[in-house]
Amino acid sequence: MKGWLKIASRTLQKAPRTADEFDKLPKHVAIIMDGNGRWAQKHKLSVSKGHRQGTETLREIIRHTDDLGIGSLSLYAFSTENWNRSEEEVSALMQLMLDFFHSEIDELDAKNVRILILGDKGRLPEKQRETLLEAERRTGSNTGLRLNIAINYGGRAELVKAVQEIATLVKNGTITAGEITEETVANHLYTAGQPDVDFLIRTSGEQRLSNFLLYQCAYAEFAFPETLWPDFTVHDYDQALEAFSHRQRRFGGR
Ligand code: IPE
Ligand code: IPE
Ligand code: MG
Repeated sequence: MKGWLKIASRTLQKAPRTADEFDKLPKHVAIIMDGNGRWAQKHKLSVSKGHRQGTETLREIIRHTDDLGIGSLSLYAFSTENWNRSEEEVSALMQLMLDFFHSEIDELDAKNVRILILGDKGRLPEKQRETLLEAERRTGSNTGLRLNIAINYGGRAELVKAVQEIATLVKNGTITAGEITEETVANHLYTAGQPDVDFLIRTSGEQRLSNFLLYQCAYAEFAFPETLWPDFTVHDYDQALEAFSHRQRRFGGR
């Protein structure tokens, strides 16, 4: 690792960075945490062990994102399509969710992290729903890292929800159809009030969005490291962020 990121790394003291260095960091990072199943297979372990190992990576990556001072981190934990997995795997994931929030909530709250769940909590078991709601309530007025965890999330479902809400506003006469702007749509997404995704990382070598943050990724930069999520380290993350800092973003301009 070279340059300013090394200085920023939590393996060293949290060092003050210049405004220029800070500008090179994405304001919003999104991560598709993929490869737990293949990791388990590689180690001849059950798939749930792979997911459990994945939560270790998750913990480290959240801490590091916070240390770097990045504003928003969105993590894909469970998609609307992941219900298609076996009952055994789904229930292992649901249990892990509970374990994760129970073990991390104190530290996250103490670090001023604000948790937001992206997705429809309605379909989740009651215990999970309550735990997630409580995490949102408890950290709701925190002002540090915005930690968005996508659970029962789908980008298309999110857009459908936004369209339904906006249609209701039009029907009520609150706004006219012609007054709907890109901002109106953005304000009805789960991520309302947060910047668009600047940088999306998907581990395990797969190169697709799998229905994650479709609207918010319109101008995102992408990285597809081959590393499986349980093997993904803070060092790999730093390398990806370093690569991002050299990207030329044009947003359609010259
Ligand atoms: C990603 O790992 C985690 C979830 C989808 C919850 P996978 O379970 O998709 O891992 P692979 O893709 O099978 O290796
Ligand atoms: C996307 O990964 C969802 C999460 C990482 C939570 P999947 O493994 O479910 O995606 P596909 O099926 O390979 O596209
Ligand atoms: Mg996968």
